[in-house]
Amino acid sequence: MEIFSNCKLSNFFGITFKSTTCKCMFLAATILILRVLLLPPAPAFGGIEWTNLVSIPALSLSSSSESGIRQDKFLEVPQIVWGLNNQKIAFARACLTARMLNRTLLMPSLSASLFYKEIDLLQPISFDKVFEFEKFNSLCGGFVRLGRYSDLLNQTQVLEMQKGSGRKWTLERDMDQLVQYSRDPFDQHEVIRIVGKNPFLWHDHWPVKDYASVFECLVWVDEITKEADRVVSKIKTIGKKARGETDRSSLQPLPYVAVHMRIEIDWMIHCEKREQRLNTNKICSSKKEIMERVGNLRNTVGLETPAVVYLAVADKLLNDSSLLEGWEEGFLPYEKKKLGVDGIYNKYPYLIQSAIDFEVCSRADIFVGNSYSTFSSLIVLERTQKMIRMGASSSGMCKTDLRWPSYAYNIAGESNGPMKWITNMSDASLKAVSYGTHNLSC
Ligand SMILES: *[C@@H]1O[C@H](CO)[C@@H](O)[C@H](O)[C@H]1NC(C)=O
Ligand SMILES: *[C@@H]1O[C@H](CO)[C@@H](O)[C@H](O)[C@H]1NC(C)=O
Ligand SMILES: *[C@@H]1O[C@H](CO)[C@@H](O)[C@H](O)[C@H]1NC(C)=O
Ligand SMILES: *[C@@H]1O[C@H](CO)[C@@H](O)[C@H](O)[C@H]1NC(C)=O
Repeated sequence: MEIFSNCKLSNFFGITFKSTTCKCMFLAATILILRVLLLPPAPAFGGIEWTNLVSIPALSLSSSSESGIRQDKFLEVPQIVWGLNNQKIAFARACLTARMLNRTLLMPSLSASLFYKEIDLLQPISFDKVFEFEKFNSLCGGFVRLGRYSDLLNQTQVLEMQKGSGRKWTLERDMDQLVQYSRDPFDQHEVIRIVGKNPFLWHDHWPVKDYASVFECLVWVDEITKEADRVVSKIKTIGKKARGETDRSSLQPLPYVAVHMRIEIDWMIHCEKREQRLNTNKICSSKKEIMERVGNLRNTVGLETPAVVYLAVADKLLNDSSLLEGWEEGFLPYEKKKLGVDGIYNKYPYLIQSAIDFEVCSRADIFVGNSYSTFSSLIVLERTQKMIRMGASSSGMCKTDLRWPSYAYNIAGESNGPMKWITNMSDASLKAVSYGTHNLSC
């Protein structure tokens, strides 16, 4: 029934499903429910249902849309920069700040390139070239709200708000400032413009679940989704061939593992510094260690081989052609070139390439990443949300063989496999996600 009412909900949001789609979803849901009722729990990977018929709808927050965010008061923030996932976090932080001030966030500029040291190379890219604008507001339904500059009156008076910095600018002072600006006379201004650092560097006042609520409203534009579809379908085709299946069971695609390998030169320099500072050796993983731990998934969780392993690496920053060598037997490593999809990626700037990779990793049957990488952490957060939407409890997610498992290769789990990893959704701040952790909640 839930799926069915969803069809109506979608109409309400202005996305009209063809009625056949609704029927299909309803049928698929019925089959799924019957399966759940009739079948014993599936063993790891051998018998998991890899059906893609039922897409899991995002939790809608629209019930509060009547009493939502004010539409005639706005917040403006500086251009959002750095990696895709730093940008997602910065964007969500800007949204939550606007929410606290009960203001609509003026659609910010993201950055298409990664050159964060040279400001003029930052290539601003509009939010709606990456994410669906209307869908964002309909999904977030009054929890947070995005506006366009054309919504502003002509004679707008802008009030600038300077974010402090340095040691003396504490979490408390930052909050005091926000409280102050949410009151008169500041509150009367149509636009408050925050000047200073990129929102990723602001103090964080919000719990993980609030960030998660904003992330759920971020839907890639069609073009990105379609490119990710093409990459995933290539991976699945290879998976089918590898198994040499010709019978009916070949209708079920072979599970694939996505590994976010952080071994690029810039990362190695960065992570070694951090290991020294934090006095640990659990941040950097060599290529050899990654291959070994991923290989051990066969013993620890009974991963069936052959298995296609998609290696998500930022090719540009990588100077190593031996990535594809040294994997255990049965693990079939592919990166963009070997998969024949580098042409797809090369059409786009860094940000979009990263978005496609994010999507490919987040849809993988198994994901393995580095718990000190923001990219990996946000993939795990998204996968944890999917598990929750499918009804997993936080205590059950670590133990059972649920769909969407994630692991960290930089931390040893049982039998030197990678450590099982979920996001702690009740964490009071996003710190673990944005700066890395070795507490993986499992
Ligand atoms: C924002 O202001 C509107 C109108 O004053 C109010 O109804 C709503 O509850 C406020 N929202 C938040 C999140 O404070
Ligand atoms: C703002 O000015 C433009 C042209 O000067 C005009 O076309 C538009 O109607 C004005 N908008 C408002 C809200 O006054
Ligand atoms: C990459 O490797 C090539 C040869 O293998 C070398 O000439 C080049 O300097 C390397 N580039 C970087 C950035 O390390
Ligand atoms: C998750 O975070 C909450 C709040 O910080 C904490 O009390 C709890 O112990 C954490 N759970 C795990 C499994 O780390």
